[in-house]
Amino acid sequence: MDNKRQLLLQKRENALEGGGKERAEKQHKAGKLTARERIEILLDNGSFEEIGMLVEHRATNFGMDKQKFPGDGVITGYGTIEGRLVFVFSQDFTVFGGSLSEAHAEKIVKIMDLAVENGAPVIGINDSGGARIQEGVVSLGGYADIFYRNTLASGVIPQISLIMGPCAGGAVYSPAITDFIIMTDQTSYMFVTGPNVVKTVTNEDVTSEDLGGAYTHATKSGVTHLIGNNDVDTIEKTKKLISYIPQNWKSKTPRLPFLIERECREILCDIVPDNPNKPYDIRDVINNVVDEQTFFEIHENFATNIVVGFARLAGRSIGIVANQPQSLAGVLDVDSSKKGARFVRFCDSFNIPLLIFEDVPGFLPGTDQEWNAIITNGAKLLYAFSEATVPRITVITRKAYGGAYDVMNSKHIGADFNFALPSAEIAVMGARGASEIIFRKEINEAENPAEMLKSKEIEYRTLFENPYIAAARGYIDEVILPKETRMKLIKAFAMLENKKALLPPKKHGNIPL
Ligand code: HXC
Repeated sequence: MDNKRQLLLQKRENALEGGGKERAEKQHKAGKLTARERIEILLDNGSFEEIGMLVEHRATNFGMDKQKFPGDGVITGYGTIEGRLVFVFSQDFTVFGGSLSEAHAEKIVKIMDLAVENGAPVIGINDSGGARIQEGVVSLGGYADIFYRNTLASGVIPQISLIMGPCAGGAVYSPAITDFIIMTDQTSYMFVTGPNVVKTVTNEDVTSEDLGGAYTHATKSGVTHLIGNNDVDTIEKTKKLISYIPQNWKSKTPRLPFLIERECREILCDIVPDNPNKPYDIRDVINNVVDEQTFFEIHENFATNIVVGFARLAGRSIGIVANQPQSLAGVLDVDSSKKGARFVRFCDSFNIPLLIFEDVPGFLPGTDQEWNAIITNGAKLLYAFSEATVPRITVITRKAYGGAYDVMNSKHIGADFNFALPSAEIAVMGARGASEIIFRKEINEAENPAEMLKSKEIEYRTLFENPYIAAARGYIDEVILPKETRMKLIKAFAMLENKKALLPPKKHGNIPL
């Protein structure tokens, strides 16, 4: 072999070594895979094509001119997942702690530009000590170049961020702009300022894990959408997520081959209890209606009074938003409104039809909610549904009360089909509350006020707590038997397959942020 070819092979070998065996071992000991191992598991076997393997940093201060690692701490390129093109960058913690230099940032930017130009998702694997300290402001510029592209790419191609190590300071804002964040439990954290700064400023003692670990962000802040038990689990969840979403805003998620169509299992009748005050798990309803074992829940442990996730219905990918009666009675509040709105907007951006299961007693009352702007935040969900032009279908399983009835994808805000089960109750409020207000005088003057209240309650319930007044007005398109739900939905989504709806011309709307 001639020297020139040998030189190339040598350079490649050096690049594959990253920061060296010792540092790779340290990474493994910390319970983490290396940047290359992660790419290997993520992509189809042998599909990865690396770009920029020989890029080096240009810093000279602090003896940096003598410390060069080909690739400069980030591995970038493209490959396939289940045969579909994706672009990937994976930060290599064994090289300067995966820190972001000017050259490192340029590699990420190149991948992002290619992803947009070629209409394919970009997956970023974050494991980094932040800005390359030796480079100073140049590194900050690199971050801003990435944030800018994240923003421009939003709604054009799906962007997914995996957090598999440190992600701190301003570095968190790239993942935050992307569509989904997936964190690995125990080995990753995200925060704007770390425990030491927190201690100095607020005198709070907190560990990195408590401040910004995966569990914290999955339950308290809602920053992460999914968590993996380890690196492999995080990557498997990413692949599953990709299977439900399309390549870009102009395309649709590939439909899976024809599946045997069945009616809902009879059990659906038993899931929604006759007693309107009895809780049930809306996920039982979802699983009963969608294709077997296809429901993939997002944000599972955050704002549990609303359930969102992807599923397949006769092989089509759909997004599901559902009130959850077993958590806070399924009421809408600040966090559930934000969670629902963000998910609706993602689905609408990427042509994923929406299925809504509604059982909502209203908005959560209280000073906490009002002072945390339930007005503005509830409006987010209302706005997100109203502007969504994808096929939208609602199934009212039980309560549809008050303003929440309007918000939860009612016909009035552009839903294509609204079905109701016979157990649906569509009213301004529950019978007791309504009777106490409108019959106050009669109740107070009655010989037996309790008896009077009860009889008025029955009168109100008979008149309003059913789906038929709404059906008579056409607000409900059809009242259906529980067992008919699946087939009705399959047919309706098939009919809406080529739906075209346009919003009035504008620069962009002004969602109440
Ligand atoms: C250059 C860095 C680095 C950085 C780590 N390293 N962070 N090199 N710039 N930001 C190097 C270390 O020198 C070390 O090199 C190797 O990476 C591994 O680091 P360790 O400290 O040994 O690892 P560990 O104990 O696991 O701790 C990881 C860490 C810690 C918690 C991330 O390294 C750390 O606190 N780093 C500094 C974080 C930081 O302050 N970043 C700047 C934030 S400001 P060797 O040669 O020994 O392997 C910022 C602004 C962004 O990011 C703003 C965007 C708008």
